[in-house]
Amino acid sequence: MPPALLLEALMSVRILFHGHSNLEIHSGEHRVQIDPFYTGNPAADSMDNVNPTVILVTHAHGDHCTDAVALAKKTKAPIVANYEMCLYLNKKGAPEIRPMNHGGSQAFPFGKVFMTLAFHTSSFDDGTYGGQPAGFIVEIGGKTIYHAGDTGLFGDMKLLGELFKIDLACLPIGDCFTMGPAHAVKAAQWLGAKKVLPIHYNTFPPIQQDAAKFAAELKAVGIEGIALKAGQSLEL
Ligand code: NI
Ligand code: MN
Repeated sequence: MPPALLLEALMSVRILFHGHSNLEIHSGEHRVQIDPFYTGNPAADSMDNVNPTVILVTHAHGDHCTDAVALAKKTKAPIVANYEMCLYLNKKGAPEIRPMNHGGSQAFPFGKVFMTLAFHTSSFDDGTYGGQPAGFIVEIGGKTIYHAGDTGLFGDMKLLGELFKIDLACLPIGDCFTMGPAHAVKAAQWLGAKKVLPIHYNTFPPIQQDAAKFAAELKAVGIEGIALKAGQSLEL
């Protein structure tokens, strides 16, 4: 393979969707897992072949962090989350933690992770306070990916659009617990996102949405919407 093509292949970034808000970002030997929720997730595929090098968790609700400790124990991958969640998950057996908080960034072998605001709540299933919920912006393989976590629409998404050139925004569209499709279209515009992957919908009855309709609404404002089923992936 010519060096330029080889470099391109090495730099390619693949998003593997695992259902709900659970996805992986693969680039070269790097595998970034965000919001691992396989156990008890009616929309998920199997966790058997998931071997993350880093685990990012947006907030403490079970539909985002259920399998974080199991995966961390299996692969020795560090868990990246806010301080409160890191302490809790460490006590539960996660071998390595990389705490951070809103507005901060950390360097990793694959690139950089920024922690963003998210308007939501955050406590573990046993009632333990999980700190403030968050989203992440991941710079990897020359691409910039925003995972909003669970959040309503907020005006500072415009600021994120100003600060980052977002190649893919993973936005919740389920409504009820997060923003719905109409607000997610507005979010995509404010973020200046090139592509949008809808997340956090159809997993449970209160968050049923029509992903095709959402993609059509995005297309009408010049943004590409790509809905994936668990086990499917897209390349950036
Ligand atoms: Ni939540
Ligand atoms: Mn959730």
